[in-house]
Amino acid sequence: MNVTPQPYGLLAEVTHRCPLHCVYCSNPLALLERQDELGVEDWLRVLGQAADLGVLQVHLSGGEPLVRGDLETLVAECRRLGMYTNLITSGLGLTESRAESLVAAGLNSAQLSIQGDTAESTNLVAASKRFDKKEAAARIIRDAGLPLNMNVVLHRLNLSRLDAIIDVCARWGAERLELANTQYYGWALRNRDQLMPGKAQLDDAVAVYQRRKAELAEQMEMLWILPDYYEPYPKPCMGGWAQTALTVAPDGVVYPCPVAAEITTMEFASVREHDLGWIWAKSPAFEAYRGTEWMPDPCRSCSRKEIDFGGCRCQAFALTGDAGRTDPVCQHSPDHHLVTDALVRANQDDRGADGQLVHRRPTVTTPGR
Ligand code: SF4
Ligand code: FES
Repeated sequence: MNVTPQPYGLLAEVTHRCPLHCVYCSNPLALLERQDELGVEDWLRVLGQAADLGVLQVHLSGGEPLVRGDLETLVAECRRLGMYTNLITSGLGLTESRAESLVAAGLNSAQLSIQGDTAESTNLVAASKRFDKKEAAARIIRDAGLPLNMNVVLHRLNLSRLDAIIDVCARWGAERLELANTQYYGWALRNRDQLMPGKAQLDDAVAVYQRRKAELAEQMEMLWILPDYYEPYPKPCMGGWAQTALTVAPDGVVYPCPVAAEITTMEFASVREHDLGWIWAKSPAFEAYRGTEWMPDPCRSCSRKEIDFGGCRCQAFALTGDAGRTDPVCQHSPDHHLVTDALVRANQDDRGADGQLVHRRPTVTTPGR
């Protein structure tokens, strides 16, 4: 008999509103508006249900979660329920007093994103020049006594600046740095030809990463999220579908991962109508790709099926239109040419570095709620 696994992480996407317009944003192409968002009472109910499910960590994300004035109430409830809280922020809108009130409510850590090492590179990627605000946010996070984790999404437009980017994070006092090569969903897939690095650029960046990781070992933990298009096998996305974590979108719809809203052929349930426990354990969308029974060949007869779980369902859908196919990143996938074709384009000698980038469309960013 199959035993339903227990989730340990909840990604609470409290809003899609955001002051940035990143060209690689993994939020859905159609963003939710403020009037679609769950209210604080709904979120308090969801957090209680998450704790009942066994969730240990809550990542408060968006959009920019700081645009919600009731964030402290959610943090305090997580603290009361014994769940660890992490704020995932662009840093824009973070003030000393806001950091203080979040820490007083029980916030445990913060993850600050940067797009590059200058205002110009931030503007190119996120259509915002407020690099100064990010530096200020790093200081505020540290002064508030929180561990500073930083995240940088890497791609063709900033990989050659990796040394300088790492310098910035070290100078700002990051304890942990996540170097996340772009995953191609949503806006990133739309901008894929502009963002996909060539092999030589990537190899140079890997060498920089390895050198700096060794140099800074005593100061900062560094993590390299693989550029999966260049790998022979797919990533074990989310540790398998509906195995370890769940995402509640701003409107209350619940997904097994932050990108699954893009799978338009599936119906996902909402906390407005169902208990989180039922959605996790029994809803058809969560059951659809749990385990290995659903797998088609070549995964079904593959020795790696318990290692990578057939890869990423969102990537399979984004590239083939069928979430139930083998992830095309896999070299055994019948759709693998969809990945290798993109790599051929990325490695053409006469290719420019920029092109027509599409920024995520603007959203209203009124602070407070
Ligand atoms: Fe993974 Fe499926 Fe490829 Fe095997 S065939 S390596 S299980 S994606
Ligand atoms: Fe959704 Fe991989 S991002 S399953």
